[in-house]
Amino acid sequence: MPNTPDLNNPYPCLDKSLALLAHARSFMTPVSQTLAKGPGQYSEGASPVYLERGEGCRVWDIDGNEYIDLNAAIGPLSLGYNVPEINQAIQAQLQKGITFSLPHRLEAELAERIHHIIPNAEAVRISKSGADVCSAAVRVARAYTGRKKVLCCGYHGWHDWYISVTSRSAGIPEEVRNLTFTFDYNNLASLENALDSDVACVIMEPFVFDPPHEGYLQKVQELCRQNGSLFILDEMWTGFRLALGGAQEYFGLRPDLATYSKAVANGMPIALLTGRREILQLFEEDVFFFTTFGGEALSLAAALATLDYMVQNNVIARIAETGAYIKNRLNTLIQELGFDKYFVCKGFPCRTTLHIHPEAGDALLLKTYIQQEMIRMGVLWQGNHNIMLAHTTDDLDFVLSAYQIALTGAIQHLREGTLQKALRGKKLEPVFRKVDNFNMKPAASR
Ligand SMILES: Cc1ncc(COP(=O)(O)O)c(C=O)c1O
Repeated sequence: MPNTPDLNNPYPCLDKSLALLAHARSFMTPVSQTLAKGPGQYSEGASPVYLERGEGCRVWDIDGNEYIDLNAAIGPLSLGYNVPEINQAIQAQLQKGITFSLPHRLEAELAERIHHIIPNAEAVRISKSGADVCSAAVRVARAYTGRKKVLCCGYHGWHDWYISVTSRSAGIPEEVRNLTFTFDYNNLASLENALDSDVACVIMEPFVFDPPHEGYLQKVQELCRQNGSLFILDEMWTGFRLALGGAQEYFGLRPDLATYSKAVANGMPIALLTGRREILQLFEEDVFFFTTFGGEALSLAAALATLDYMVQNNVIARIAETGAYIKNRLNTLIQELGFDKYFVCKGFPCRTTLHIHPEAGDALLLKTYIQQEMIRMGVLWQGNHNIMLAHTTDDLDFVLSAYQIALTGAIQHLREGTLQKALRGKKLEPVFRKVDNFNMKPAASR
């Protein structure tokens, strides 16, 4: 019998997942198109590999096991799986056509809606992925300023200009690598040191899990203005989650450009670039940013329906409430168990994480064990809580009960030195995400 969420479950049967993984490896390498969904982030042997369907906040793997999903497809599912209103919008558009030979009316409708929602959206461009719009933002910033260098803080996708500064930079010429540098989050001196007269733009995530210091983001914006560099907010995680208008609305910022994707269409692939008209106008002639599927209409219909749904159902406030519920209760549980020297739940409510303190030793070993046990109990867990509207307090109470068992077991094994032996699958790999202290600008070139 396949598992359903239950604290007393045996380990799930994963035969079909593991057989398909082995089969797929004979003609795919790697098997996942999204790093964070692949076997490195889900302990191979102990986690399902392939999902079949979803409903609300639940998903079923190809062996038929059911899980409460805490990942929301790494962000896109703001509402949940299989939401009738969104499905209907997609199906209605499907009857009329998917991709057309001329622009579709929905492109203009979505742009107008975004223009009214996002504070800096004097003008709007639509595309397909987060990396697309971040790269377009950087290119147009270079064209607008006539400068070359980029300063970044966060993750911004797979394209050369960004990924060149990470540990996976093979295939990118040194010349490109030498144009992008990072700065430390919440450290104004680190940004000030890196700004010079050749910096075209500063692109950053408003925060990842640690909150910005009071006035930090405003000061970054000001430093950019003083330096003649464009200020670009990467709102992949904050857009349509933290506030409908994203972090720029929440913190009262006015970035020159901002980029969105993930939650805007509840799972359909679409991305947005918003910003000053004067800058985006360069795409009319001098700067090239066009793609075949940019105006694909099912995603446009889904985005409009998702935005309607969000406004009508007060989704942002409800996600914040649910997210605060799990964050506060998990931290209370951690304290009650006496585990606060090992763990803390941190982040803004819409997206929190179970942080493992360095005092706990090998964090990846602990995380692998916790994941194995959460999955046994029916919680698809990768460390984060990406809140969807579909998560109810009943679901989260169950998750908290599962946490109590998983964390207690983990610390017991840690104390007894038996963690490694308790693992049924492979140890997890580090999350590929560096937000500071790498590829800093060398002092000589400042
Ligand atoms: C902050 C941020 N920016 C950009 C991206 C790239 O988006 P995509 O994977 O859609 O290209 C991601 C993806 O996770 C992200 O988290």
